[in-house]
Amino acid sequence: MTPQPDVVVIGAGAAGLMCALTAGYAGRRVLVLDHANKAGKKILMSGGGRCNFTNLSTTPANFFSANPAFCISALKRYRPEHFVELVERHAIEFVEKTPGQLFCAESAKDIVAMLLTECDWAGVEIRLKTSVESLERYGEGMCLHTSRGRIEAGAVVIATGGLSIPTMGATGFGYDIARQFGLEVTETRAALAPFTLTSSWKARVADLAGVACDIAVSCRDGRYREPMLFTHRGLSGPGMLQISSYWQPGDELEIDLLPDGEAFDALAAARRETPKRKLSTWLSERLPKRLAQSLGEWYGEDPLLAELSNARLGEWQARLNQWRIKPAGTEGWRTAEVTMGGVDTRAISSKTFEVHGLPPLRFIGEVLDVTGELGGYNFQWAWASGVACGQAL
Ligand code: FDA
Repeated sequence: MTPQPDVVVIGAGAAGLMCALTAGYAGRRVLVLDHANKAGKKILMSGGGRCNFTNLSTTPANFFSANPAFCISALKRYRPEHFVELVERHAIEFVEKTPGQLFCAESAKDIVAMLLTECDWAGVEIRLKTSVESLERYGEGMCLHTSRGRIEAGAVVIATGGLSIPTMGATGFGYDIARQFGLEVTETRAALAPFTLTSSWKARVADLAGVACDIAVSCRDGRYREPMLFTHRGLSGPGMLQISSYWQPGDELEIDLLPDGEAFDALAAARRETPKRKLSTWLSERLPKRLAQSLGEWYGEDPLLAELSNARLGEWQARLNQWRIKPAGTEGWRTAEVTMGGVDTRAISSKTFEVHGLPPLRFIGEVLDVTGELGGYNFQWAWASGVACGQAL
């Protein structure tokens, strides 16, 4: 008979594999279960196939949570440099694209291969295509009923991630288990997601699909200075994904298309110096050409600069520095990178990730109400929470 594992980790994703290998190296018999046919599917599709695996400037301020102090301990103990050291040990080449954001130079497959190799070295067993039907307390430990039979274990770690990209195996399983054991789950919503537009705006921006520009965007308490991309569905690009974490249905976005300065002053100077130039010519030197042309069409005018009164300059300043647009929604779970909200961390130890009063049950990674900004922070949370939990098993 195969010996029962000390630990069962449910979810062979970023957090689950990191936790499993850490506990395996500490001498625990670890079994990882996943209903998918492959481990680390989200890692494989992350960062456009290159996996933005960490951010060197990670701090707790890069995360959203109803309990903001919860992430401090794990992030402090397992820092980006620790993961970089692991990546270097496996001779994986990486590049720093935007300051602090580290991506694989070749492929995200390298990160999955590294984690699976480490799991193998640590004696971890991984069983794919296995679904967990139920979980219950059993003596001092837990008992699981799976599609491949019953398993008893000293501890069970829930690492089933969030709800985004259901086609990749995302489920609400972790939230159901949390509720079964009396834990709260804070409201979940799709975040780091592109915006869709109402039909009138969608028609107006349709010709701009593929155009990218440097903008600043604000909504509620959030403001990001990152690029925006027009798509055939609406607005995307890093700036839009970031602000989607603040956006609530019905909110307007305020987009600064000329974030380097006030359009009024620049237009007034241009009116003085080059009064015979067309507004669209002036715009096309500062914005992508197609967008500059569209702006004139949207507002039905392309005057000579000399024709612009101060009042009209003020109107153009508002259109350019505070373009206000109300999205219809986000693209939702189908394309969102993460889930905002999740298992309420007030019921969880920030040191061991065990449920207060129920030490054999633990939650790590994205299933928890800890959500990072765009830029490698979500993986850093997965690694850090996985290691902290694995060390305490
Ligand atoms: P993760 O989702 O990785 O793993 C959960 C595992 O649990 C999966 O293998 C799933 O099959 C399994 N599972 C779910 N339900 C189950 C059940 N009922 N039974 C058994 N198994 C079950 N982050 C970042 O920092 N940098 C980046 O570049 C990107 N890029 C990116 C792109 C895209 C398209 C997406 C969707 C997401 C990203 N992210 C990202 C976010 C990042 O992928 C995410 O935060 C981590 O993968 C979360 O790690 P977890 O291990 O918590 O969940």
